[in-house]
Amino acid sequence: MCGIFGLITKKQDVPVARLIREGLQRLEYRGYDSAGVALVNDGNIELHKEKGKIVDINKNGALDNLKGNFGVGHTRWATHGPPTAANSHPHMDCKGEIAVVHNGIIENFQELRRKLTERGHEFKSETDTEVIPHLIEERIAEGDDLKTAVMNAVKVLEGAFGIVVCHAHTPDYMVVARRESPLTIGITPGETTYCGSDIPAFLPLTRNAYILDDDEIAILKPGEVDIFTLDGERVERDYITVQWSIDAAEKGGYDYFMHKELHEVPQKVREQVRMPQENIDAFARTIMEAEHVYITAAGTAFYACLAGKFQVTRFGKIYIQAILCSEFRDALEDAIPENSVVIAVSQSGETADTVEAVRYAREKFNAKVCSVVNVVGSSLTRYSDHVIITTAGPEIAVASQKAYNTQVTALTMVALRIAELKGYLDKEEVQKYKQAALKVADVCDEIIENEDHIKILAEKYAKKPNFYFLARGVSLAAACEGALKLKEISYNHAEAYAAGESKHGPIALVEDGFPIVFIAPPDSTYDRLIGNVMEMKARGGIILSVVSKDDEKIKELSDDIIPIPHDDDPYIIRLSAVMYVFPLQILAYFAAVHNGFDPDKPRNLAKSVTVK
Ligand code: M6R
Repeated sequence: MCGIFGLITKKQDVPVARLIREGLQRLEYRGYDSAGVALVNDGNIELHKEKGKIVDINKNGALDNLKGNFGVGHTRWATHGPPTAANSHPHMDCKGEIAVVHNGIIENFQELRRKLTERGHEFKSETDTEVIPHLIEERIAEGDDLKTAVMNAVKVLEGAFGIVVCHAHTPDYMVVARRESPLTIGITPGETTYCGSDIPAFLPLTRNAYILDDDEIAILKPGEVDIFTLDGERVERDYITVQWSIDAAEKGGYDYFMHKELHEVPQKVREQVRMPQENIDAFARTIMEAEHVYITAAGTAFYACLAGKFQVTRFGKIYIQAILCSEFRDALEDAIPENSVVIAVSQSGETADTVEAVRYAREKFNAKVCSVVNVVGSSLTRYSDHVIITTAGPEIAVASQKAYNTQVTALTMVALRIAELKGYLDKEEVQKYKQAALKVADVCDEIIENEDHIKILAEKYAKKPNFYFLARGVSLAAACEGALKLKEISYNHAEAYAAGESKHGPIALVEDGFPIVFIAPPDSTYDRLIGNVMEMKARGGIILSVVSKDDEKIKELSDDIIPIPHDDDPYIIRLSAVMYVFPLQILAYFAAVHNGFDPDKPRNLAKSVTVK
């Protein structure tokens, strides 16, 4: 997730560079590890890009002083390649005449890069983006105008993109295109046209906006926009007039960042499923070659570990020991055997206990470290042998949700790769599981589209002081995460237990009206879970169950259900972890709002816990 802002205007004496820099700053919540601006100036491209925050990069006016009539800027959230000047956007072609900014992930960039290199192109960065200006360069060399060149170039891209392209020798327009990544256009008719990843970028300048659909490109001229499909057919569309305040616009029209980010979960899961195979490979092989595997994290990330460890055991037949990072050292004092691997999972990559756990294992016992991290270049990545970057992008709400779901998805992809490498699954079956993982994202789309049902339930249960969350198997991770979410943002006391454990103590608290949330996918745990539901019901418990849409038995025993709209397909059922936890995160969100709390900033909590 990155921020893009560009403008082209007819007005004379407009501080184009400063307006682009200010637009980028309004998008810094989308990414802030490096930034750059390119302007078209009299047949040349003026470019400045650097690592760091925009305010620091522009300290001596490095961005504001760029000369030119129109152009584009980018604030980066690193995915491919660490945050460095070379990896910052805009990226250029060999001749330095085409500047491209990009938000998204080009899945086939390695193959494209290899072919372009064979044809003599020189690359200056490690990014996936850089293939785009080189592809456009080739098309222009073959005689295409800029519009046709971009159209032809994006046709060969696989993955997600929102791009803006400027060409030194095309002085009257720039081109934008998108697929699965956001890109909006703002317009003051007859005068100025803007483009931005989100509407807030241009909201102080205009309230008129065009929203591009997938696989559309647009030609931006001063105060004029022409939209086309990738096949060149003109699209007739009027701009809309946005009524949001800037604050609401930053939240995409939602009341809270958490709500906006919950709506982003399906797409982020999709991007994680499609992450490059190479990223998974070294990770999977390292785990396979180890004699002992540990997995560690804190909070929600630890529950992602529980789900992930279950999948690695299920598919790859490797037992992994999960240890909370704050307990890691005490639990394993002087007892980490040779040839061990520690998997560490973290959104921030800065959680002090997680970093300390891996350093302890690495420095004292020579253990290998594989981490699943959301922030490129964070401390944890520096102590890791192999890193998988999650596709969550910046998460503003303190409560993890995009991060959790992409962490579980990433670990599931690792589990499938191990199974393939060990010969437990053939290529075809792995493909079926990947298709199922993409269907999981579609199911999450349906869940969030029908969030009103969850809202009604949240309002019904929000004032209950105590909850149990019960489940078996992989769903225990969902129970733990569901309880933590409710606790951390809605301040209801909630405890998660393995359902079989509930009769060894917890059941003593159950009386008339005590709410119990059951997570009950139709997997091998289902029949045993029915017994636990009955035990709770017999003691007056109110049962809220998360079940398949086709469920009959547990539905009949429950007071309320959240139906999960998935097929009766064994592949998708084995990937239940994400789609059965997602509604619980939504439930916690609506409970918090109903109880009058700000879910983005829960009391006493910080997004990144850097103290031990
Ligand atoms: O940045 P990390 O993923 O390492 O953070 C770990 C926990 O602090 C974090 O998951 C915390 O539990 C969240 N607030 C949960 O929503």
